[in-house]
Amino acid sequence: MSVIKVAILGFGTVGEGVYKTIQSHAEELEGLLGKKVVVAAVLIRNKQKKRNIDNDVLITSDFNEILSLPQLDVIVEAIVDKEPPYTFLKQAIQKGCHVITANKEMFAHHGNELLMLAEKHHVSVGYEATVAGGIPVIQTLRQLLNVNRVSHVQGILNGTSNFILTEMREKKQSFASALSLAQAKGFAEADPTNDVEGYDAFYKTMILSRIAFGDEPNWEDVEREGITSISSELIEAAERLNLRFKHIASISKVGGQLKAAVKPALVGKSHPFYSIEGVENAVNVQSDIVGSITLQGPGAGMFPTASAVIEDLVFVCQDQPTNKNFKLTTTPAFSKEIQEDVKEFWLIHGLSKNYRNPSIVFVSKDTEETAIIQATREEIDTLMNQQKARCYFQILGEHERAYKNDDVTIAVL
Ligand code: NDP
Ligand code: HSE
Repeated sequence: MSVIKVAILGFGTVGEGVYKTIQSHAEELEGLLGKKVVVAAVLIRNKQKKRNIDNDVLITSDFNEILSLPQLDVIVEAIVDKEPPYTFLKQAIQKGCHVITANKEMFAHHGNELLMLAEKHHVSVGYEATVAGGIPVIQTLRQLLNVNRVSHVQGILNGTSNFILTEMREKKQSFASALSLAQAKGFAEADPTNDVEGYDAFYKTMILSRIAFGDEPNWEDVEREGITSISSELIEAAERLNLRFKHIASISKVGGQLKAAVKPALVGKSHPFYSIEGVENAVNVQSDIVGSITLQGPGAGMFPTASAVIEDLVFVCQDQPTNKNFKLTTTPAFSKEIQEDVKEFWLIHGLSKNYRNPSIVFVSKDTEETAIIQATREEIDTLMNQQKARCYFQILGEHERAYKNDDVTIAVL
């Protein structure tokens, strides 16, 4: 029986997970594809490291050795940075291989070029693992929500950040020790700045934007903020007000233009993201026919990511046309109007003592310094410009008025 030959680029958390899963699920793969899937080669950087890889697999740090193999059907890329992965995948496609990538930084920058090149060479590109780890959000958006017009996508897209925020709140861990644990568990990027400063979630958001809206906002216009400003003190104050910090990515079409942001926000108990804890991710999609749906699941780690890659492996080997799926033309989406004067809920911290503004509604106070207010964006900007507070965070969703301290409920100061 003929075989499907696979090369895996990178043998870290993801590459090793893919290798082990090809072995552990050999029967299922053979049953689905009618051929045995064989790992022919693994690319690594450090040849001295001991690895648990069978003797008949080529282990090399020279990509040309992999490209020169007499048969190669699929290349799985699980290394880091934009280069050399982009060049490797271009060469693989030109040689007629299907490619699968987990590398969102590379794919956010070069996904379109790879997809077009693949179309030209009649091969497929799988990239499910680039967004939200094991959650099949890309296949869901491109296969199952094709006719729906998407109006808004919101998600928790970085497992490391969500893990750190949960550890800090539940176990009173410091930021640094929670990050070390996320690294030890294989959740964090090689450079964890990508996780905690919001770059990783930003890249994922741009990939989702292309699938959901057929386009991306200007990268420079996207507000990007990570979780490094969230102190234990803030997390505890929020908890006393029945709120949790989450790192949230959102994309919507506002006034005909795509608008995206990646930043921390607060959610109350009624919000679908309130119970998304630890390394979990979630993606909420709002569209015209189905309404609102939320997918949730593990957002990082060896086997959740291997699951996304392996499902792509079957998909590309069955010659599914994945390349049509970065829509190159924009489908008409709902367009929200900009409503500048809507009062939203905010947690505000470091408030000047005795601050008075008749138009701002104080909903609840934790301490003199931390309060929930209702205000327009403009009012918040004015307050910050006047340096009347240290920081503020939006509270998403319908805000519950389940406060512990009745005497501070809804008071206009
Ligand atoms: P790791 O740091 O654990 O592993 C990276 C692997 O790539 C190592 O084996 C390393 O070799 C190899 N490598 C790095 N640079 C090169 C190079 N230039 N040439 C050859 N080999 C190279 O990373 P992860 O497995 O965590 O992540 C891999 C990719 O998958 C990243 O793009 C990441 O963003 C993405 N991803 C990660 C997830 C996760 O949960 N960790 C989830 C989803 C996507 P050596 O072993 O010799 O050092
Ligand atoms: N570092 C990433 C995260 C890996 O924590 O979400 C999954 O993409």
